[in-house]
Amino acid sequence: MSGKEFLGHPAGLYVLFTTEMWERFSYYGMRALLVMYMTNYLLVDPARAADVLGYKALEGFLVGVFGQMNIQQMSSQIYGLYTGFVYFTPFFGGILADKLLGQYRTVYLGGILMAIGHFLMASEKMFLLALLFLIAGNGCFKPNISTQVASLYPEGDPRRDGAFTIFYMGINLGAFFSPLVCGTLGQTVGWHYGFGAAGVGMIVGLVSYWLGSGLIPQDESTESKAAAQESRKLTKEEWASVLVLIVLCALNIMFWAIYEQQGNTLQLWADEKTNWSFMGWNIPSSWFQSFNPLMIFIFAPLLNMFWSWQAKHGKEPSSVVKMGIGCILCGGAYILMILAAKAVPGADKGSVLWLIGTVFVFTMGELYLSPIGLSLVTKVAPKPIVSMMMGVWFLSSFIGNYMTGYLGTFYTKMPKETFFMMLCGLGIGTGIVFFVIKGKINKVLGKFV
Ligand code: GLN
Ligand code: ALA
Repeated sequence: MSGKEFLGHPAGLYVLFTTEMWERFSYYGMRALLVMYMTNYLLVDPARAADVLGYKALEGFLVGVFGQMNIQQMSSQIYGLYTGFVYFTPFFGGILADKLLGQYRTVYLGGILMAIGHFLMASEKMFLLALLFLIAGNGCFKPNISTQVASLYPEGDPRRDGAFTIFYMGINLGAFFSPLVCGTLGQTVGWHYGFGAAGVGMIVGLVSYWLGSGLIPQDESTESKAAAQESRKLTKEEWASVLVLIVLCALNIMFWAIYEQQGNTLQLWADEKTNWSFMGWNIPSSWFQSFNPLMIFIFAPLLNMFWSWQAKHGKEPSSVVKMGIGCILCGGAYILMILAAKAVPGADKGSVLWLIGTVFVFTMGELYLSPIGLSLVTKVAPKPIVSMMMGVWFLSSFIGNYMTGYLGTFYTKMPKETFFMMLCGLGIGTGIVFFVIKGKINKVLGKFV
């Protein structure tokens, strides 16, 4: 690894930043279109849907489990399964890197699989196969690029939290531009142009990774790593940390389940119940999905400054308390949607300010929970299984995202007000649990939090 630094951080951080920015550009660009593509196009015509490879079997399975579903409900389920499984595979991608390929090669493999997936989206017939490639690719890519961020820093380096915030800003820069580019292309020119643009983004990500490879931390030789692992059992303390991480990840599930509604039911609200005309121009509703990353980008540094200020006064909350606050903010955000549902009944279209306000509040919640968790995992997880534990962190997004799809099926089943009340209650309730158990958790994590 080269010792070059830039703005106080190793230059490799900016390579990982750029690679992840483009990868997330492709992920969120495709996701911005996904639900609308299904509800407005792919599943509308039964013959077209039946033509998709594997669709009949998937439909049969889902109807078998959940009963008959309308198009919105079916696409909510598929959205949930896709965005869920994208975070299931990182567990295995982490093991693959820890045990066999090392992080560097596994990230490459993931990028290539995802590029193939995005280009397969150009074919309607290959829709489900494309999703499978994306799921496998993300599994190889996501946990390993995240642990690579940590390995740029020696243990105990105080810059690590800041590094994850910078990295998270890269994620969100990509996530900000992609609905604007892919969403607009998909909604105005043609679905496949939007998906194609996502594929191009992934290729740019891979090229950036390749160009910057000299600055990225090299993996330890995998053979010596395997040997080291065999001779090293986890200590009792390490097992305790693993257990604590698992508990935290289990609680995070609820956070993601309500947070990720932004790609699903909130996107439908944006599309169907929001007025997007602006000075005679009709803004594509997928732009809604740029609000959150834009706010992350603006508020991440501000919140970091606030935490440093709190730290100076000995008042910075511990990671667990931050996560609890994150959940409460995420659930609390839906109070605005409850009010919106009251204010904008039936087929009326309401102001975009409802969504802006809601997104602002849950984005603050995300900043309290997500980058904090990523950084915590790299500090707390025992060294030999750090990528795998990163995979465990993403498992909470797996179940959470799937629950997003499941909870989303209630969107057309119950009054909107009740639906948003349910999300609000789940978020706030989970936040309270964090506060209840914080004493016990902090005792185990001690020096890390
Ligand atoms: N939004 C962040 C990303 O895409 C975190 C997602 C997650 O952990 N579920 O990287
Ligand atoms: N805010 C979402 C994440 O950080 C887009 O990636």
